[in-house]
Amino acid sequence: MNVMSPETTSRQDRQTESAMPVVITIDGPAGTGKSTVAHHLASRLGLEFLDTGAMYRAAALIAIEKNIDPNDGPALAVALRDAQLHFDWSADPPRIMLDERDVTARIRQFDVSGVVSLVAARPEVRRVMVDQQRDIARRHPRLVTEGRDQGSVVFPDAPVRFFLHADVSVRARRRVAQLVKAGQTDVDEQRVIRDIQQRDELDATRTDGPLIRPEGAVDIDTSARSVEEVVTVMEDIAREQLPDAGFEP
Ligand code: DC
Repeated sequence: MNVMSPETTSRQDRQTESAMPVVITIDGPAGTGKSTVAHHLASRLGLEFLDTGAMYRAAALIAIEKNIDPNDGPALAVALRDAQLHFDWSADPPRIMLDERDVTARIRQFDVSGVVSLVAARPEVRRVMVDQQRDIARRHPRLVTEGRDQGSVVFPDAPVRFFLHADVSVRARRRVAQLVKAGQTDVDEQRVIRDIQQRDELDATRTDGPLIRPEGAVDIDTSARSVEEVVTVMEDIAREQLPDAGFEP
């Protein structure tokens, strides 16, 4: 897998050349609003944004398209090494590309969501991803990165780390709203709740990089808070903890 190549230049490249590296991690289960708040937080602070779930989803898409068993870690690792998977950093948020095809929307579809937890549970897959995420952070050193293991495994030394959570019923309602907005009809809320619980269980119980609250991370319950409120809490904490980071005013 070649997540980094061909590399496109991001808007922030010039302005961050002389600024200090800052990695802020956001972890938590599906439906906590992680991606949205991570993207907003990055914009407010003038940092770049990395959606690591998109990388695992792209790996799941490769499994589907190449007809690879999602439990076959070694075969997946070979396919990932051959794939031309990378981000287009000229877009905000960055688009994920597979062999020059923009798969940003494709990886959100049901078939991908259905197998991604299995793919993400394979240690061979996680090893490739963790290496690539650290490599991305070397090239994009002022970064808000979100996922399940960013503050625990990938960037345990990040100076600011958040852990988001929310009631399962609230997370299911958010997911239903997303699916309806995406044009799906007949969405069964009970089924969505079961899917979320199943995915949580798989993500939390895998041996490699399980979803855990990183020690020392700031815990935020998003159940009763708007995106704006959550982002403001996080922004205040980041500015307070890193007064010399050179964030956007
Ligand atoms: O955040 P998301 O729903 O797009 O994540 C897709 C899947 O990838 C989900 O099953 C959890 C997994 N994932 C992971 O294991 N580690 C990460 N750092 C990010 C996502």
